[in-house]
Amino acid sequence: MASEAWQKIDEVLKELELATCDNKDSLEQFRIRYLGSKNIIKPLFGEIRNVENEKKKEFGQKLNELKQKAEEKFAQFQSEVKSKERSDAQQSLDMTLPSEPYNQGSRHPISIVMNRIISIFEKIGYVVAEEREIEDDWHNFTAMNTPEDHPARDMQDTFYLKDSTQYLLRTHTSSVQSRVMTTQEPPIRIIAPGRVYRNETISARSHCQFHQVEGLYIDKDVSFADMKQTLLYFAREMYGPDTKIRLRPSYFPFTEPSAEMDVYWGLKDETDYRITKGTGWLEILGCGMVDPNVLENCKIDPDVYSGFAFGMGIERQAMLKYKISDIRLLFENDVRFLRQFSSVI
Ligand code: DAH
Repeated sequence: MASEAWQKIDEVLKELELATCDNKDSLEQFRIRYLGSKNIIKPLFGEIRNVENEKKKEFGQKLNELKQKAEEKFAQFQSEVKSKERSDAQQSLDMTLPSEPYNQGSRHPISIVMNRIISIFEKIGYVVAEEREIEDDWHNFTAMNTPEDHPARDMQDTFYLKDSTQYLLRTHTSSVQSRVMTTQEPPIRIIAPGRVYRNETISARSHCQFHQVEGLYIDKDVSFADMKQTLLYFAREMYGPDTKIRLRPSYFPFTEPSAEMDVYWGLKDETDYRITKGTGWLEILGCGMVDPNVLENCKIDPDVYSGFAFGMGIERQAMLKYKISDIRLLFENDVRFLRQFSSVI
């Protein structure tokens, strides 16, 4: 009986040596035969009791070796089958097949226009300043020389935070001017892009949130001519080298004198007549020399320093550039609309 068991061990060992596996099925058969719950090695362990005492140890060792061998072989076959599967899959890869559809993201038209404006000013030494959208009344209005009774402060126009007369959603990026002037020493040369809010009825032409870019330059001996030259440079970079501009006198509380800048758009078609009200000129921004009161409010000596500021809306420029007729499209995030800008950087 016992000698049969010894023999059986040798047989299984030989069998293991000769075994081969080249696919998942034969691997599974191997596992069942040598390592499964009813494997052929298991009953041999029961034979130990029939072996003479002095040979028991040797018998046990041999059996353990056999079991170990089966496990080793299985691990070896398993990795061979896996790598074979992998190379088979590679061989069956048809490189001529069309690829999976690839959804390319796109920049929002507002970002495209905003980035363009920023890079134009960065070229002449302006740095980007970003500030909070929830502002206090002082930085948004008081510091900017906007009197208490100014209509812009009206609840009708300004979103105040709930139960507050102090905190509001900034109504213009001009608030960044007072933030920067109270924390930095001149010379100051910043460009401030960002979102602003006004309590307006939403329509095809206006929205309660929109974007502006603010510019501020403060140094010794800054003149109106410097401003005009800077804005002309901007207009030509943005709208082409032959662009003509004009400055019309205007009023803003924070600048004196103040102006609005128009670019000559032309009267090529009917839409041009409509958007330029038949003049061919299109208003792009507000600007002016920083009012000495504003400098004083921000603790900058107006006898030493002067400067200019300007502010422009982004939506209108984006709408003109891409011929978008409804401002609401810019806030709805409909991918069918946004996808059209995927080729623009
Ligand atoms: N803050 C003004 C607005 O929201 C735009 C503006 C006009 C900004 C003149 C300026 C400026 O810096 O000098 O309509």
